[in-house]
Order: sequence, then structure tokens, then C-alpha cells
Amino acid sequence: SKEGFEHYMLKEIHESPIAVEDTISGMIAEIDKIKESVKLINSARRIIVTAAGTSYHAGLLFSILLQREGYNALPIIASEYYNLKTTEEDVILAISQSGETLDVIQAIKKFKQNGSSIISLTNIIESAIARESDVKLYTRAGPEIGVAATKTFTSQVAALMLLYNFISQKDYSYLSKIKEIIRYALNYQGEARLIGEELSTKNNAYYLGRGLSLPLAMEAALKIKEIAYLHAEAYPAGESKHGPIALVEKGFPVIFINDGELTEDLQNNVQEMKARKAITYGISVNKKLNTDKELLLTTDEKLSIFAIIPIIQLIAYYASVKRGNDPDKPRNLAKTVTVE
Ligand code: M6R
Repeated sequence: SKEGFEHYMLKEIHESPIAVEDTISGMIAEIDKIKESVKLINSARRIIVTAAGTSYHAGLLFSILLQREGYNALPIIASEYYNLKTTEEDVILAISQSGETLDVIQAIKKFKQNGSSIISLTNIIESAIARESDVKLYTRAGPEIGVAATKTFTSQVAALMLLYNFISQKDYSYLSKIKEIIRYALNYQGEARLIGEELSTKNNAYYLGRGLSLPLAMEAALKIKEIAYLHAEAYPAGESKHGPIALVEKGFPVIFINDGELTEDLQNNVQEMKARKAITYGISVNKKLNTDKELLLTTDEKLSIFAIIPIIQLIAYYASVKRGNDPDKPRNLAKTVTVE
């Protein structure tokens, strides 16, 4: 049941703190699997991270973290696996909420034939993808009914942060704060609603970010396309001046996602967009971007992405509702995509 929430999506966003907590404690309870994954990753020539949709965005974020540590991490959209010659020296990380996505199954089957080892992260115990894997990691977000992935995405990111901390031999105890950070961000539901409702009146939007905020911008754009049917494109903020800025005219909405790490660079991009009379929005943590409208949150620097995730989900949710759509059942989409 929706337990008093208007839609499953909203309920599931609110379940994110618990989903993350259960995911982390579940992973720690199976610490041998984490250690096995770390061993495979540390002895691999390349780490190929493959997934579709929202799960791909979690994978992209993880790849950036690994690349920064000097790892050869290669994110691949599952349906684009063709002709990628992997070997037994490569390890594959497949991420999928359902564990049944055909694109991902096809990719890992091919990589397996090449002799690569497979680590999977799925939300369903013994899912098809888990069964194809050498190491089966799980998020424990519980069932997700809304077609739009919300709490499962947050849980994937948390699980991958945990894995990353093990890989880079960092203390992971700070991850226990994620739950509180999400709860804190959920207090800004009203602010997110105002932004979502404003966007619902627009035909197009850009979501711009840098670093770890880029996969979040991509996820924000996917979410609002998916349930609000609002055409939104995500772009690396710095790259936006190499083409996308041509579309920007008076009133064009540009939403900046700022996890706080690359604020000064983003501020320059904000000015560029303001100079074209865009309406600029900021979803910012710890440091102000000086956008026309800004939602400024303050949290632990290392976990700032977790304050942003619920906000971008709520923005899409309210844009969808304002347009009179059913966010739980977007047109043309299935919860699990088992076709090519
Ligand atoms: O079950 P999966 O994580 O493999 O699904 C992948 C995508 O189909 C999925 O994330 C899709 O993009 C969602 N509807 C996003 O909200």
C-alpha cells in the first residue's frame, strides 16, 4: 500500500534512508563478498562497469571515483557492448535494480565468453544477472513499485561508495551518516516542489554539473523526461559552451547541480548562462552558485551527493504531478526491460 502517500514514487523516495541503511548493513554482513570483489578489482587490467538507465548513472559515478584513484574503470552502456574485446584480465561490474534487464544480460554473457569475471549488484536475490555472476552483491532497498527508480538508485550509489572505500582502503564508518543526510534533504520537499512546478511549465531544460554531479545531472534529466515528459538534457557544465548554449535564450531553464567540489568552475558557467538570460536554478551543497533561484543545502562534504539525490527525484515527481501525469506508470515504459 501507499501508506498515505499519493504515489508509490513519493513513498519510495521517503523510504530511501532505510533502503540505504539496509543496503550497507547487508553488504557488511557479507563482507567476504566485498573482499572478493576488491581482490578481483585490484588484480584486473580494467574494470568495465555496465548497466542501463538509472543504474548506468550509478555506475558512471562509481567509475569516476575509481578513475580518480588511478584505476582503469570504463563505464559502458549495456546495449553498447558490441565489439568490446574483454579478456580474462578484465573484471565486469554489472549494476541492475531488477537483475533482469536483457541488455545487461547480453553484455555480461558476451564478456563471460571472453573469460572476464563478473561482479553484479542487483536488488533481487538470485536474479538472472546475479546467477550469471562470480560475485553477487546486493542492494537491499526492498521492492520498488514506481517505474522510476528512486530508492534503488540511492542504494546503488551507497553500495558502490562502500565498495569504493574498501577498494581505496579508506575508513567507511562515515557512510552511516547517509541516512541522516537524506532525511535532512527530504525536509526541502516544499522547495523541490516549487522548482518542479515551475519546470512543468517549460518545454526544455538543461541540467549541468561537473565531476560527481554530472551523473546526478544525467539522472535528474532522465527522471524528468521519464515521468514529466519534459525534454531535458544533461551536459558537463564546462562542455555546455561548446554547442548546447546555442539553444539558450530568455527564460530557458538551466539547473546546476553542485556537490560543492567544483563550485568556482560552476559559478563561471552560471554567469555564462545568465548572460544569455537563462533562468538559472542551483541545487547546491555547502557553497552558493549565485543562480537566480538556489536551493542551498549543508552537509558533510564527502557525502554531499546524497543530499542532492532526493531533491532531483522530488523535482521530477512534482513536475510530473503538476502536468497531470501518473508518475508511477509513465507511458511507454516498463519497470523491467526484458526486450532488446
Ligand atoms: O532494472 P535495471 O536497473 O537494470 O533497469 C535499468 C533501466 O531500465 C532503469 O533504470 C530505467 O532507466 C528506469 N525506469 C529509470 O527510472
